[in-house]
Amino acid sequence: MMRSHRAGDLRPEHRGEQVTVCGWVDGHRDHGGVVFVDLRDIAGVVQVVLDPQHVQGADPHAVRSEFVLRVTGLVRDRPDGTINTELPSGAIEVAAEQVEVLNASDPTPIPIDERAEVDEVLRLRHRYLDLRGQRMQSNLRLRALVTRTLRKELDERGFIEIETPLLIASTPEGARDFVVPARLAPGSFYALPQSPQLFKQLLMVGGMDRYYQVARCLRDEDPRADRQFEFTQLDAEMSFADAEDVMEVIGAVVAAAIEAATGEPAPAVERITWHDAMERYGTDKPDLRFGLELVDVSEVFAATEFRAFQADAVKAIRVPDGGDFARNRLDGLIERAKSLGAEGLVWMRVQEGGVLDAPVAKFLSEAECIGLVDCTAAEPGDLLLLVSGDRSLVRRVLGTIRLDLGRPPVGEGPMRLAWVVDFPLFEAVDDDGNPVPAHHPFTTPHPDDLELLASASGPALLAVRSLAYDLVLDGWELGSGSVRIHRADLQQQIFELLGISPEQAQARFGFLLDAFRYGAPPHAGFAFGIDRLVMILCGEENIREVIAFPKTQSGADPLTGAPTPLEAVQLTELGLNVRPPTKKGG
Ligand code: AMO
Repeated sequence: MMRSHRAGDLRPEHRGEQVTVCGWVDGHRDHGGVVFVDLRDIAGVVQVVLDPQHVQGADPHAVRSEFVLRVTGLVRDRPDGTINTELPSGAIEVAAEQVEVLNASDPTPIPIDERAEVDEVLRLRHRYLDLRGQRMQSNLRLRALVTRTLRKELDERGFIEIETPLLIASTPEGARDFVVPARLAPGSFYALPQSPQLFKQLLMVGGMDRYYQVARCLRDEDPRADRQFEFTQLDAEMSFADAEDVMEVIGAVVAAAIEAATGEPAPAVERITWHDAMERYGTDKPDLRFGLELVDVSEVFAATEFRAFQADAVKAIRVPDGGDFARNRLDGLIERAKSLGAEGLVWMRVQEGGVLDAPVAKFLSEAECIGLVDCTAAEPGDLLLLVSGDRSLVRRVLGTIRLDLGRPPVGEGPMRLAWVVDFPLFEAVDDDGNPVPAHHPFTTPHPDDLELLASASGPALLAVRSLAYDLVLDGWELGSGSVRIHRADLQQQIFELLGISPEQAQARFGFLLDAFRYGAPPHAGFAFGIDRLVMILCGEENIREVIAFPKTQSGADPLTGAPTPLEAVQLTELGLNVRPPTKKGG
């Protein structure tokens, strides 16, 4: 064996033992005589004492940072006054007898584990050094623990792990595809999967009953804090199951992963309808860790003479004790509202007796002022922020301002996990009057809204609900799923509504529709982002921090240089002719 112990595992109970450890020189103090080395491996750090009088092998004075050493020696107590209580191994040290330099290291271009000051691109270019740091090591370990727990929980519930292909025809998740040229069919392309959606439905037709996969997915959409080109879903599908069954299983496995990661009981999964989430939080992924809820005050101003409030909707946020916000902060909020598309934002300071101190107060009737204070339950010293206009705009603007004002950092405070249910079936109506699916075109309409679906047209269709549900953790969309349509007649009706002709439907999803003709079982499923879950559990603000080799904001990999142009011979072989870019990225 190359080593007897992991360096970071050594503790006082190893006192008196002869050990051999291997690792990197995390730091070294050379005072001309004895050399002290902090030796680091996956388990942590231990102090090694290299006394040139006694040690055999390498010259202790030649040791440098990040050299790889193999040290044999005796574990002993550190002398009084030199105990390091910050370090789990801080009460002991290894008195080296034999030292071997397994490898030298050039001075590193980035410090190990001091990322705050290091440029992101530099970190990613030398990711192998970045990974040596404590933070990435514990993040990736936690990620493995989460994945392991998810697999175990699903295995125990009778789910079968099945891999689905990466080279496929396009899937209907709505983002842009990454495509791969097909050498054997010049001019044709595979798409990389945005999700295993259609294959998992085919697996249900194939009688696999309960499927899951730790699935790599690829979407060509601009990277953000919670979005990468490549990411990993825990993808699942169940036959003979309804929405409640799926929510039960997924809620339990996510809870198990949270418990494994935090060592504490997971929060109970709450439930909120999409409509309530939009009305009270202005978003379909509400962060329930803090208040500042949106209050609808449209009724109060139903007959108002104040022009700004003669609108589709008027909503307010009560900021407790916000009455002392400085004028420039209030001006900042107005600017923020405008930048989000609102006409403006009205602020009011609540004073004793419910009197409102605000530039617009003179335009409001006494009944309106009383109604507003009543409706928002405002107290003296509070601040009210109001936005009016189109309902969806008001929700979005105040929902964003709510987050600006109160959102705690990732991982702070007790977690709040919630199912958002009763999503609308359609999210918009396009220029041709066709509704656009909110989830994907295989989502079952809510059984209570089938009549509306049959009779309504245009914007009235937006009121039709679906059997789709999202799981939201601390304001992040963890995942989504739905009960699928498994009957050809209903699917046909939905395609017609979406403006997809039978020919188009056959061309795009013919294989699925064909499969559905042969006894497709009722089925429902879900997928959630493992990167996002782990990001929150690690208290990180960006999913890059929980992915070993992520891409930068611009989609590049500074380590390997990807993406790179192809050689002319490769292009020829693939039957591709590349036009020179006309502008950056063009
Ligand atoms: P959806 O598109 O909502 O649903 O994706 C499910 C979850 O995957 C994660 N996710 C991402 N994570 C990182 N980077 C990205 N670019 C990215 N895109 C999505 C999110 C998201 O909630 N097939 C359906 C699920 C189903 O109906 O069963 C689907 O993929 O956490």
